[in-house]
Amino acid sequence: MTLFEAPASAPGGQPSDVNSAAQHALAAELDRKLEVLETLEERLGAIRDAINGTIAFSTSLGIEDQAITHAIAASNADIDIFTLDTGRHFPETLDTLFETEGKYGIKIRVMFPDSAEVEELVDSDGIYGFRYSVESRKACCEVRKVRPLNRALKGATGWLTGLRREQSAGRSHVPFASYDPVQKLIKLNPIADWSLEKLEDYVAANKIPVNALHAKGFPSIGCQPCTRAIKPGEDIRAGRWWWENENGKECGLHTQSDDPGFEPKDRAA
Ligand code: ADX
Ligand code: SF4
Repeated sequence: MTLFEAPASAPGGQPSDVNSAAQHALAAELDRKLEVLETLEERLGAIRDAINGTIAFSTSLGIEDQAITHAIAASNADIDIFTLDTGRHFPETLDTLFETEGKYGIKIRVMFPDSAEVEELVDSDGIYGFRYSVESRKACCEVRKVRPLNRALKGATGWLTGLRREQSAGRSHVPFASYDPVQKLIKLNPIADWSLEKLEDYVAANKIPVNALHAKGFPSIGCQPCTRAIKPGEDIRAGRWWWENENGKECGLHTQSDDPGFEPKDRAA
C-alpha cells in the first residue's frame, strides 16, 4: 500500500494545509510501522512500499550512511543516492566515495555548490571566514551544503538520512519518519534508534567500506577545516565546529525542520 504520494493540488479550500495535514498523518503512520521492524533492510522495504515517487538518500559517506548505502545496494532498492561535495572535504571522504561506487557498482550523484556563490562568499569573508563568526560559518554551510541539498531534493517525495538519536542531545528525539515542512516531503531516518555498537557490528558483519578517518578518532566527519579528531570521553560530535558553543552546532541541513519551534518558510531556489 502506498502511504504517501507527491502533493497534488486539492480542490478548493487551502491545498497546502490539506496536503501537509495528510502528509503529517501518513508520516506518523510510517513512523509507527518502522519502529517495530527489526532490520534495516525491512525498514527500507517498508519505506519503499509506503512512498510513491522518488526517495532520495543524502550520504555524507560517514559510517551511518555507509550502512544505509550497503542495505540499499544489497536489496537493490529503488532509491536515489546523492552526496554534497562542499569542495572542502577530506581526501579520505572522496576515497570512500570512489571505493563505494566500485564495490557496489552504483552511481552516487555528486552535488556541488554554485561556483559564483562560492566566489562571492570567499571574496566577502575570506578563505577561512567561517572561523571568525557564527554568521559567516552559517553562510558558508548555506552556500556549500544547504542550497545544493535543496536542489538535490527537488522532486523527491521522501528524504532518507543517517541521523541517529545517540549522536547529540539535539538529535535525541529524531523520529523514524516525519513530515518536513521545509522540504515539503517525508523525512526518513531508518537507523534513528541504532547505537554506535550496533552500527559497528553491522558494518563489520557486512564488510562495509568506511572512511579511514573513523579509525583515527573521527566518529563524525564533515568538512576538513571544520572537523577535528575527538579525545576519549568526548561527545561524538565534539570535533565538529569545535570553536562554537555546543548549542545549535548544526549546519542547517537538519536543524530547521527537526526543531519543534521552527517556523517553516519556503525552501530556497
Ligand atoms: S551535519 O548536518 O552535521 O553535517 P552529519 O554529518 O551528522 O550532519 O550527518 C547527518 C546526516 O546528514 C547524514 O546521515 C546525511 O544524511 C546528511 N549529510 C551530512 N553531510 C552530508 C553531505 N556532505 N552530503 C550528503 N548528506 C549529508
Ligand atoms: Fe563551510 Fe565548514 Fe560548513 Fe563546510 S562545514 S560548509 S567549510 S562552514
